[in-house]
Amino acid sequence: MDISRIRYEGLRSLVTTAEKAAALFEDGMLVGASGFTKAGDSKKVLPALADRAHTEKLQITLITGASLGHGTDGKMAEAGLLHKRMPFQVDPVLRAKINHGEVLFIDQHLSKTAELVHGFFPPLDIAVIEVATILDDGSIVPTTSVGNSVSFAARAKKVILEINTSVPEDIYGIHDIFLQDNYPQRNYIPIKTPDVRVGRKSIPLDPAKVAAIVFSDIPDSPADIAAPDPKTTAIASHLIRFFESEVAAGRLTDRLLPLQAGIGKVANAVLAGMEKSNFYDLTMYSEVLQDSTFDLIDAGKLRFASASSITVSEACYHRIFSNLDAYRDKIVLRPQNISNSPGLIRRMGVIAINTAIEFDIYGNVNSTHIGGTHIMNGIGGSGDFARNSYLSIFVTQSSSKQDMISRVVPMVSHVDHNEHDVDVLVTEHGLADLRGLAPREKALKIIGVCTHPDYREALRSYFDRACARYEGQTPHILEEALSWHIACRDTGSMKKLPQNII
Ligand code: COA
Repeated sequence: MDISRIRYEGLRSLVTTAEKAAALFEDGMLVGASGFTKAGDSKKVLPALADRAHTEKLQITLITGASLGHGTDGKMAEAGLLHKRMPFQVDPVLRAKINHGEVLFIDQHLSKTAELVHGFFPPLDIAVIEVATILDDGSIVPTTSVGNSVSFAARAKKVILEINTSVPEDIYGIHDIFLQDNYPQRNYIPIKTPDVRVGRKSIPLDPAKVAAIVFSDIPDSPADIAAPDPKTTAIASHLIRFFESEVAAGRLTDRLLPLQAGIGKVANAVLAGMEKSNFYDLTMYSEVLQDSTFDLIDAGKLRFASASSITVSEACYHRIFSNLDAYRDKIVLRPQNISNSPGLIRRMGVIAINTAIEFDIYGNVNSTHIGGTHIMNGIGGSGDFARNSYLSIFVTQSSSKQDMISRVVPMVSHVDHNEHDVDVLVTEHGLADLRGLAPREKALKIIGVCTHPDYREALRSYFDRACARYEGQTPHILEEALSWHIACRDTGSMKKLPQNII
């Protein structure tokens, strides 16, 4: 415990144990907690609360920035603590509870949660926020993410602070905390390029709201980094060739435009591929800084990266925090309503690269649901970026489960990003640039370029028969459109389609 991290001396007497802090919660409370893609989350108080819920009737609605680490979502779900959860999760135990209908889940654009916290929900009963330091004026320095903590600090009746001593205090200065007014007074956000700082270095907090302070020294859960494989490498090289052709056509320069890359192994491989490209002086305006971000900075390719969290492997975590001064003027962490602000994304012309679970022959993308019913993770920030970016790119492998499932289908089983928000689709087989194409042209291109060979003829047959029988702007055979998913549900495979289909 390092009491000097509480510079506002009047708060020092509030240091307590996680168990005593967890005792402050009551059944039915609305709770906010820091944490964004496993970074900067509560490592002690939320797990202690989960322990309480094993023996008492205790359920809360929990709002975070995004996903939590250390299996905390799973522990809370297992204990029956979670009544309702938003806006994002990646935990297998929680996922199962959501899909069994035992936990209610609101899957939401990450830029929008702060709007609800400020303008729709009642004040939060308690917020739990991980911090590096409490400053002299009571304001707080976040750790590896900002997420929704600014809104939680403003809107909570009581705040529990978790001081994480594994994060060096000199993280101070990495954050840019821009405060937005409520409507109708809201002003524009004066960010014109990713490297601009427009706010404070700490989050304002009324010290009178602090109810408890808990110390921890537990680092963030490390990110799972999958090494690029032949398929993800092929996707990356299709994309890099596409960017090169855009430069040759005069639509982009060698500096490209600010990049956003979503979670998942494909997006990470694409950024890794940039390292060997001829592009230079790159910038990122994204929501998560991953290992590949720091590799690109070290390689001299990436000049500046803006996001809401740092979510990296253990080795990269140590590399950053033992060398923070080398990165200080190259990265910034912002609240997620700013990192994912639709207006800024459109103004800066972000190139957004996100991952699809599946897409259909007309370019609609499903990022969240398996078989139309079962949630995987959530939409996260992919919608904020896809709809508003200059180039909205979705990547995925063409098939799944040893090729038993095609990830290109006649009609997606759930739509997260509709055809109007999707410019480019990429699989290991090729890249379909859909800009300037009408639905029938899109279908021919997607089927010809992106599909796995095992499914190409079946998709072509579906499209040809749909055009011949039903016509229309977007031809479909409605009684067949979802049959691929029905076959998959019933047999685990899309290879055994009902007889009438091929
Ligand atoms: N039908 C059934 N299962 C499928 C499937 C399909 N059409 N497509 C994928 N799957 C399965 C895979 O087999 C894999 O299963 P496994 O874990 O048992 O191996 C699992 O779903 C994940 O697929 P994979 O391709 O390995 O995932 P990924 O790590 O590349 O992540 C998303 C892909 C879409 C799940 C992930 O990117 C995501 O959650 N995106 C939404 C949020 C987002 O985009 N945020 C962006 C801003 S950070």
